[in-house]
Amino acid sequence: MSIVVGVVNQKGGVGKTTTAINVAAGLGNLGKKILLVDFDPQGNSTTGFGIKKKTLELTMFDVVTGKCRPQEAIISTGFKNVDIIPANPKLSDAEPALTKMENKNLQLRKAILQVKDNYDIVMIDSLPSLGVLAVNALTACDTVIVPMVCEHFAREGLAQLMYSIRNVKQKFNPELTILGIVFTMVDKRLLSGNEIKTDIVGAFDKKAIFKTEIPRNVKISEAQSHGEPVLTYDKTSKGSEAYIKLSKEVLSRIKETHREVGSVNGKKK
Ligand SMILES: Nc1ncnc2c1ncn2[C@@H]1O[C@H](COP(=O)(O)OP(=O)(O)OP(=O)(O)O)[C@@H](O)[C@H]1O
Ligand SMILES: [Mg+2]
Repeated sequence: MSIVVGVVNQKGGVGKTTTAINVAAGLGNLGKKILLVDFDPQGNSTTGFGIKKKTLELTMFDVVTGKCRPQEAIISTGFKNVDIIPANPKLSDAEPALTKMENKNLQLRKAILQVKDNYDIVMIDSLPSLGVLAVNALTACDTVIVPMVCEHFAREGLAQLMYSIRNVKQKFNPELTILGIVFTMVDKRLLSGNEIKTDIVGAFDKKAIFKTEIPRNVKISEAQSHGEPVLTYDKTSKGSEAYIKLSKEVLSRIKETHREVGSVNGKKK
């Protein structure tokens, strides 16, 4: 059984891509076979895995507009157990193309269905928007991880995100769940951040928040500019330790709330 996990938040710069890259790498390292779907025209997950956007032949644009089969666009990241369908700015042309299509919100889901059984976990790095691409991403997921920074505007955006998730659940994807909210770029010295965190924790069921928090750590952003996950860039850094812990928590939450994963090789892991 495989599962599709989206990393979503319409607020920009909250750590979606960083979380998608590093949890994909962390889960791959735990022996799970992962497909990362870069569903953002910025293509940051693609470059974050050291893949050059300009040299790509087939990308998520071709997949979601039906110009190629998803199998044809998959490439290996070179990191343990992690494949990717890359993206580049061309993906923004998919918005108008999708809008003209019948079932415009179901196209990513249809594409992923063709390949998901070859993987234990499919992760989608979504874009900072609530447009047709973002709705496609939410419609394709079984569950979502919501990265969150402790800032005023991000807190304001959270209610809007929850509304969108509810809306997609009602209209297109009744089984959609929230795996958890994860605090990213945490700096415990910032009192305003601590207040906002307390407010968010109070507004949600305790179980809705991941126990693991990701600290602000320079090794995490350095790793991205070197085109690799922090796990391989600097394994003993605080950032790497946090993402390894988060990957384990993600896996145990999937097992608890959804199902056993890890049947791709015919054995439970
Ligand atoms: N824990 C961290 N410590 C230090 N820097 C971080 C951390 N997490 C993310 N960053 C940096 O913050 C910036 C924004 O992160 P990221 O690109 O993951 O956000 P995003 O939500 O994917 O953004 P967008 O909405 O534009 O897709 C990046 O430059 C990234 O390297
Ligand atoms: Mg991003």
